[in-house]
Formats: sequence, C-alpha cells, structure tokens
Amino acid sequence: MNHWRSTYSSKLVSAQQALQAVHSGDRVVLGHACGEPPALVQALIDRAPELTNVEIVNLVNMGPADFARPGLERSFRYNGFFLGAPTRQAVAERRGTFTPCFFSEVPRLFKHNILPVDVMLLQVTPPDADGFCSYGLSGDYTQAATGVAKVVIAQMNPSLPRTSGIRIHLDALTWIVEQDSPIVELVPTRCGDLEHRIGEHVASLVPDGATLQLGIGAIPDAALLSLGHKRDLGIHSEMFSDGVVDLAHAGVITNRRKTLNPGKFVVTFLMGTRKLYDFVHNNPDVELQPVDYTNDPCVIGQHDNMISINSALQVDLTGQVNAEMIGSRQFSGVGGQVDFVRGAGRSVGGKSIIALPSTAARGAISRICPHLDEGAAVTTSRNDVHYVVTEYGIANLRGKTLEQRAEALIAIAHPDFRDSLRDALRPHPAHACATCA
Ligand code: COA
Repeated sequence: MNHWRSTYSSKLVSAQQALQAVHSGDRVVLGHACGEPPALVQALIDRAPELTNVEIVNLVNMGPADFARPGLERSFRYNGFFLGAPTRQAVAERRGTFTPCFFSEVPRLFKHNILPVDVMLLQVTPPDADGFCSYGLSGDYTQAATGVAKVVIAQMNPSLPRTSGIRIHLDALTWIVEQDSPIVELVPTRCGDLEHRIGEHVASLVPDGATLQLGIGAIPDAALLSLGHKRDLGIHSEMFSDGVVDLAHAGVITNRRKTLNPGKFVVTFLMGTRKLYDFVHNNPDVELQPVDYTNDPCVIGQHDNMISINSALQVDLTGQVNAEMIGSRQFSGVGGQVDFVRGAGRSVGGKSIIALPSTAARGAISRICPHLDEGAAVTTSRNDVHYVVTEYGIANLRGKTLEQRAEALIAIAHPDFRDSLRDALRPHPAHACATCA
C-alpha cells in the first residue's frame, strides 16, 4: 500500500524546475477557481521571455490572471470558458479569447481530445496513508484534464482543505511542488434591501425538503438569508459558499430528503471564506464530484423538488435570458446556468428560478426589455425558462403564450419602465398593413 513513498521523493522538484515542462505552443490548463496553484502559475509567468504562444485555459479565475496582462501577449494567449474582472479586460483588449461551452461539457472537450491538454497545473492536498491526495476545492473539469494531460504538475498545499469524493493518487502526478500558499477567499457580497426583497420572493418558491442549486453573488446569497424558516433542504449544486454553512449549522439544510445522495452535500467546486473551508475540511458529508456528474441535467433531474437559483443581466419579453453579455461585450459565461435550468425542468416538482434586479445603472436601464441588446447572446432560451423573479414579484413563464409572458414580465419590471415596455409591444404605425389600416 505504501509503495508510493519510494517514488514520491523522485517527483519532488521546485516550481521553476517543474515548469521547464512547458514548451512554446503548448496548451496549459489551470486548476479551476480556488484550485489554481499560485506558485506554479507564477513560475510559468516567470518563463515568459523564453516562451511563445502558450495557450492558458481555465474557467472561473480567482487569481490576478497576470498571464493576461499587457506585454505578455507574445508568450501567453488566454482562452477562458467564463470571464471575471481581470480576464474580461484581457479579452476586451484582445489579449485573450472566450470559448462558449456548458460547464457540464467542458470535461468532454479534454477527454475527447477536442482540446488536447499538454500540461495540467493543479493544487492538491498532501497524500493520505495510501498515497491519495484530495482535489481540495475543485473537482469540476480539473479531474478530466488531469486524466489526459501529457504532464501533470501539482502544487501540494497543506493549507488546502481535504474534501471527500473524488481524489487523485500520487502515481498520476508527473511532478510535485511542495509549497504552502494561502487559499483565495471570496468575501460574501453585501445584500441590501433590494436583494432581500428578491430573496423573499425566491424563498416563497422553495418548499420544505427541496434540493437546491445556487449560483454565485448577491442574489443567491440573499435567497439563502430568506430560507431560515425552511426544513430539510438539500444541496446538489455546482458550487456553494458561506451562506450554506450558516443554514447547515442552523439545521435548515440536512440533505435528509434528497432523492439522490441523501445526507450529502454534492458539489463540484467551493468558494468562500475560512468559515466554508473549515466546514468542508475532512467533512465526510461534503462530496466533491466532477462537473460532468453534478451538472448533468439527467442527474440533476433525478432529484424531486430540484430548485435552481441563478441570476441574469437582462430578460426579454419572450423570456430569453442573457446572463453573460453586456451588449456585444462578453461579461461572464454560461457556467452551469443552463445545465441546472434544464435539470430542474426535468425534476418532479422542480423549478428553475432566474432572479435579477429590475434595473441596472442606478435605475437608468430596465433589465426586463423588449429585445436583448444588439450583439448579446441568449444564455437560457425561452423554451427552457421557468420562473423569473425581480424585487417586484414572480413571473411564471412555463406553458405561457408570448402575450402572457410579456404581460407577466411587465408586471415585475420597474414601474418606471412598464409603460414603455407596453408601448414596445404595440405594432409600430409604419409597419401596419396598409389594407388593414
Ligand atoms: N445593461 C447594462 N449594464 C448592466 C445590465 C444591463 N442589462 N445588467 C447589469 N449591468 C451592469 C450592472 O449595473 C453592474 O455594473 P456595476 O458593477 O458597474 O454596478 C454589472 O453589470 C454587473 O451586474 P450584476 O447584476 O451586479 O452582476 P452579478 O455580479 O450579480 O452577476 C451575472 C450576474 C448574471 C453576470 C452572473 O450571475 C453570471 O455570470 N451568471 C451566468 C453563469 C451562471 O448563472 N452560473 C450559475 C452557477 S455559478
């Protein structure tokens, strides 16, 4: 059982030595979100003068993304499945690009060699007695890319929480860099009155015993704050954060009534503060699973009363949801939104909820709009959408005609915009048929 100890020391190298494995033209995949190994990424950036045209691929980026900073374009080309603040700017300034893909399908791109992986950089915990390391906070595509990469370099970080579920044996690692680094923390967003009102509406749609998926940000956080009076909720989610820990400690989340994996929090990545990391560390009830399991609509749909809670940037009057673009500028990505909307749509008693403030830009723009902005993408289609929630109420669009949808959505738009939305629905006189006029 302990055979791994003999090879362990032969794999131990410095970050600088390990990163010699990267060659010009390679595709390098980074561990996802908090699974990104800071010491390895820095050592890669330090090699910039020697490298050209190295493609760097990830999804949520929690580090500073210095590989995408101005001046390094010759060495590194960023390719993201989801954009955040630093990578968004890099893509807008053409130092990087964006690949649309459902989160559930990212592992397939690697496993089926659609995007062959040369080098995988990830973080793992120190091994257990049998030589198995935990992936810590990121299972998602990290496991799939690790399985097919020609070279696998792991930062072995004792600060990384050890989670249950998938794990990796030392035999699968090419090089090991022992280095302690602090784990990036995601500070919870502040929820104001508006978010609380949205949270109350969302909570009214959640029955006792429901299984929840929650996206990132103020709206899902506000929804959690409004769920304190519920019973026996469960978690099957792409990710969760500190708010879930509070409800677990309060006895609201028990996972007892989950149809699949009862008793377990099932998740593919975790982001939060030390409170979350202490909760998941060595907790046998928290299971990290790959994203092609957690986000598979067929798996999600097997949970009775599956409720997905996600946000959006705008919704048009037919129910098309844009959650990823501001005009023609890529803002984020689809992530797991459609995976969970479709999964909840198959679930007995399931509901998918898109919750958003009714306006943006300090009230100047209505997020309920006649048409999506020119250049914007449809993230969740009008065929998939179910509930849309703003601070003004709930619109249930499923099975509704175009006219009924428009009416329901105008009723939850900000009152200042309702008249102009109604006007936009009327045929323009210039377009009226001459024979009917
Ligand atoms: N037109 C112009 N600007 C808009 C806008 C619109 N229709 N809607 C929002 N904005 C602006 C906001 O004013 C805000 O600007 P500010 O930062 O200057 O205040 C900015 O865009 C971000 O909007 P906000 O609503 O605060 O975004 P968020 O951080 O709550 O994220 C999504 C919302 C939709 C971008 C995010 O949830 C997402 O990326 N979703 C897709 C993926 C997903 O759902 N995954 C699910 C599992 S994690």
